[in-house]
Amino acid sequence: MSKNSSPQFIALIASLLAASLSSIGVGIFTLEVLATAANFVLVFAVCYFVFSYLLKEFIHDRIKLIYKNIYKFKTQGSKSYGALNKNEADPIGAVSKEVVEWMLENRKEVNELKEQENFRREFLGNVSHELKTPIQTIQGYIHTLLDGALDDKNVNSLFLNKAAKSTDRLAELVTDLTSISALENRGLLKTESVDLVKLTLDVFEMLEIRAKEKDISLKIAKQNPKEVIVEADKAKIHQVLVNLIVNAIKYGKVGGSIRVKFFDMDKNILTEIADDGEGIAEEHLPRLFERFYRTDAGRSRDQGGSGLGLAIVKHIIEAHNQTINVRSTIGIGSTFGFTLKKG
Ligand SMILES: Nc1ncnc2c1ncn2[C@@H]1O[C@H](COP(=O)(O)OP(=O)(O)OP(=O)(O)O)[C@@H](O)[C@H]1O
Ligand SMILES: [Mg+2]
Repeated sequence: MSKNSSPQFIALIASLLAASLSSIGVGIFTLEVLATAANFVLVFAVCYFVFSYLLKEFIHDRIKLIYKNIYKFKTQGSKSYGALNKNEADPIGAVSKEVVEWMLENRKEVNELKEQENFRREFLGNVSHELKTPIQTIQGYIHTLLDGALDDKNVNSLFLNKAAKSTDRLAELVTDLTSISALENRGLLKTESVDLVKLTLDVFEMLEIRAKEKDISLKIAKQNPKEVIVEADKAKIHQVLVNLIVNAIKYGKVGGSIRVKFFDMDKNILTEIADDGEGIAEEHLPRLFERFYRTDAGRSRDQGGSGLGLAIVKHIIEAHNQTINVRSTIGIGSTFGFTLKKG
């Protein structure tokens, strides 16, 4: 008998067997063809009905228990599942399909949880590492001052300034962490019509002094229209522009220039921020938007960054269901581009 026999098929074979046996008996006993045929049909019909009913009931009872257990697990998740149909032609096939589905779903969930667990562990490690340096610096200077350096006019204000710088760094780090966790906890956006040209000019004004320190010019490309309207969360896109332009200044060359361009892409607007700075080696590009990721140049130059700026940018753009990308050539410069829905 085939492995996939349904209860009906088993009942059919058993009824045929029973009808044949009893017809042989009747045939031998009565020697009447008509009576033998009538017996065959009757026995077959009764047996088929009784066997298939009993088999279905038996299988249904056993499988109901398995289903019940699966549902108990499944309904703890987000999906809901239909109950076992009593008229199901192949109840065993149906239950094994559900079990496989359930197993795959569970395996996916377990893998996701493992990934999250690794991520959290790594994140916690990174946060404590980043907090440790400024805290130890502050601690060192304050203790040195308390141990006598406070009275030494040559170093006291120098040490206090250094401690203050580390305090600023600590505050900056905590602000970045707060905005990342705020973005994660309530992904809600307050979207409105935003003029990207005006927003960019506001950011330029805010960062003017910083750019001047490195003699960097901030410009919107000439061919752009006077107004570029998108549907976006204004405060968050302001932060995106600040983070990208601050990076462009920080990693840009002295006397260089930063250009912002807008491209009409049918349903979206692509905004590009291009600098002519040090550039980023290709091997770093795939990981650049990860939290705490910095290139070797970013680290060794002691620019005071923690590698959270681009992670925040990516979070915001993805919350808008849009994309961000980067292209860069060492020694030539970098261009960061993100899209937003046209307003
Ligand atoms: N325009 C750029 N040119 C060259 N390198 C860049 C540029 N933007 C980012 N990078 C590199 O990418 C890294 C990650 O940038 P990100 O903005 O996430 O962190 P950060 O600037 O180091 O710190 P933070 O923004 O948190 O203060 C930087 O450390 C730097 O190495
Ligand atoms: Mg940055």
